Amino acid sequence: MKIAMVGSGYVGLVSGACFADFGHDVVCIDKDARKIEALHDGVMPIYEPGLDGLVESNVAAGRLSFTTNLAEGIEDAAAIFIAVGTPSRRGDGHADLTFVHEVAREVGENLSSEAVIVTKSTVPVGTGDEVERIIRDTGTPHRFAVVSNPEFLREGAAIGDFKRPDRIVIGAEDEFGQEVMREVYRPLYLNESPILFTSRRTSELIKYAGNAFLATKITFINEMADLCEKVGANVQDVARGIGMDNRIGAKFLNAGPGYGGSCFPKDTLALLKTAEDYDSPTRIVEAVVKTNESRKRAMGRKVLDALGGAEAARGKKAALLGLTFKPNTDDMRDSPSIAIAQTLGDAGVKVSAFDPEGMELAAPLMPEVDMCADPYAAIDSADVVVIVTEWDEFRALDLGRVIELAKQPVLVDLRNIYTPEDVRARGFTYASVGRV
Ligand code: UGA
Repeated sequence: MKIAMVGSGYVGLVSGACFADFGHDVVCIDKDARKIEALHDGVMPIYEPGLDGLVESNVAAGRLSFTTNLAEGIEDAAAIFIAVGTPSRRGDGHADLTFVHEVAREVGENLSSEAVIVTKSTVPVGTGDEVERIIRDTGTPHRFAVVSNPEFLREGAAIGDFKRPDRIVIGAEDEFGQEVMREVYRPLYLNESPILFTSRRTSELIKYAGNAFLATKITFINEMADLCEKVGANVQDVARGIGMDNRIGAKFLNAGPGYGGSCFPKDTLALLKTAEDYDSPTRIVEAVVKTNESRKRAMGRKVLDALGGAEAARGKKAALLGLTFKPNTDDMRDSPSIAIAQTLGDAGVKVSAFDPEGMELAAPLMPEVDMCADPYAAIDSADVVVIVTEWDEFRALDLGRVIELAKQPVLVDLRNIYTPEDVRARGFTYASVGRV
C-alpha cells in the first residue's frame, strides 16, 4: 500500500519510518528543502533513539523515500497523512491551522486518484470538517474521505510507542475511510493493538482530552509533593500507594519541576480555547495550566532557598544538570529549565549547565548560561548542583568527585533520582521534590 506523509517533522518522520518498516511503501514530503536533503544524506532533523537506523534500513529496502514535491509524493497514495505543525497561535493560544489548511488545499489540487486524507497533526475539534470543505472546494473529481487519526507517541520512546501502542484511534465518517485505515494499520492489528473507531470529532477531542488528563495527573502529584514537604510525607510512597489502585494507575505520577515539551503546554491551552469558544469551561484544565506555569519559577526559588535565600544567593554559582524537558530528546520547548535559569539569573546567580543533547537548542534561550562539556565541568566550583532532567548519566554521578569539585556539597534533585539517606550520608545537603 502506498502512503504519503506530508510533514517530515517529529510525528511525520517517526510515523513514516514505522509504516515503511511494516512493509508499506512510504513517501515523506516536506517543503523544507534542507531537511529533505539532509534526510537523503541520512541526517535526522531531530534526536530520537533508533530513528536513524530505522530510516536507513527502510530507505535501503526501497520502502521509504523523501521529496519536496507534494504532487509527485502523493501520486497514487491510498492514504495521505497530514502531519504538519500546529503551533500555538501567537497572542491567543489557539492552535494555528495555517499549515494544515495549506496542505489540504494542495492535496485537493493535486489528487491523482481516490484517497483517504488523514489528519495526524494535533488539531482542534472540527478541523476535519474544514479540511473536507477545503478539499471539496478545490473541485477534485476523485473520491476522497477525511479521517482523524491522532498520534500518542512520546518523544524519546516514539518508535516503541508507535509499534506497540495502547490503542489506535480512528475517527472516520464513512466506510471508505474506515476500510483504508484498517489496511494501513493491519500489521498492528495483527499484533493485537486495539483499534477504536469513533466519529471524526470524537477522535479529535480524544487527543486533547488524553493530553489534558495526563497533564492533570502530573500537576496533581506535583501539588501533593508540595503538601508532602509541608506535612513530612514522601510523595514517591504516596504515588505508589495511590497508583496501586487500578482505577488510578501507577504511571505519570512522578513529581518533578512541572511538565514541558511540545505537547502538554500547547494542547492544554488549545483545549481551553475550544472550551471557551463552545462556552463550556474546563476549570480543571485551567487550574492545571496556571499551576504548572507558576511551578517552573517556584523550582528556581527552591534552588535559591538551597543557596540560603535570595539575598545570600547573589554572586553564587548554580550548576544545572539537564536542560531538555525530559531525557532522550534535544527538545527544549517549554522546558522548566528555562524558567529556572531565568529565576536564578534574575537573582544574580551565575549559572553553568550540561545537557547530553539539548545544549545547542538551549543556548539561544538562556544566553547568560555557561554551557559546559560535561557534568563535572559544570559542577566545578558550584555552590549548588541541580538535577533538572533525569538523563541516565546523572543517576550515577561520581559523588566523591562532585564533592571535590563543588564549592559546597549542596544537591537539589528536582527529579527524585537519588535516595535522601544515601546522599546525606555522603555529606551532601540534599533537597528533592515532595520528600524530606
Ligand atoms: C506527550 C504524551 O505523553 C504522548 O502520549 C503524546 O502523544 C505527546 O505528548 C503528543 O501529544 O505528541 P511527550 O510530550 O513526548 O508526550 O512527553 P511525556 O513523556 O508525556 O512528558 C511530558 C512532560 O511531563 C515532561 O516534561 C515530563 O518530564 C513530565 N512528566 C511526565 C512528569 O513530570 N511526571 C511524570 O510522571 C510524567
